[in-house]
Amino acid sequence: MPLLEWSSELDVHVDSMNREHNELIRLMNVVYDANASASGKARISSALDALVGYTVKHFEDEEAYMESINFSGLRSHKYIHQDLLRRVGGFVSDYKSSTSDQLPAEFFDFLKFWLVSHIQGIDTKYGNA
Ligand SMILES: [Fe+2]
Ligand SMILES: [Fe+2]
Repeated sequence: MPLLEWSSELDVHVDSMNREHNELIRLMNVVYDANASASGKARISSALDALVGYTVKHFEDEEAYMESINFSGLRSHKYIHQDLLRRVGGFVSDYKSSTSDQLPAEFFDFLKFWLVSHIQGIDTKYGNA
């Protein structure tokens, strides 16, 4: 069972960004499934790296989009992205340096909460700009 599925509540009314959010959800579900099926630390770590890598790309693309429409909230949105990457990076480095193969449940709570609240509360602002 996936951690999260796309729904119209996540629609930001920008096709390219909706596609990238779908890919983020897919990669998040890959990490979730790898962890749930105890795939081992190497696989879980590479799924995490893919998720973080795509998140960096997505934030760059989203910031470029906001710049292209002269979106007034770009500065604070960038700051929120940086903060999120810092927090995800903290979870990932804690996991890699721990002796456990399992990611903590709070990591998935954080990911799910972040994705839904960031897209609905923050990303939709540029879609309505
Ligand atoms: Fe964003
Ligand atoms: Fe986004």
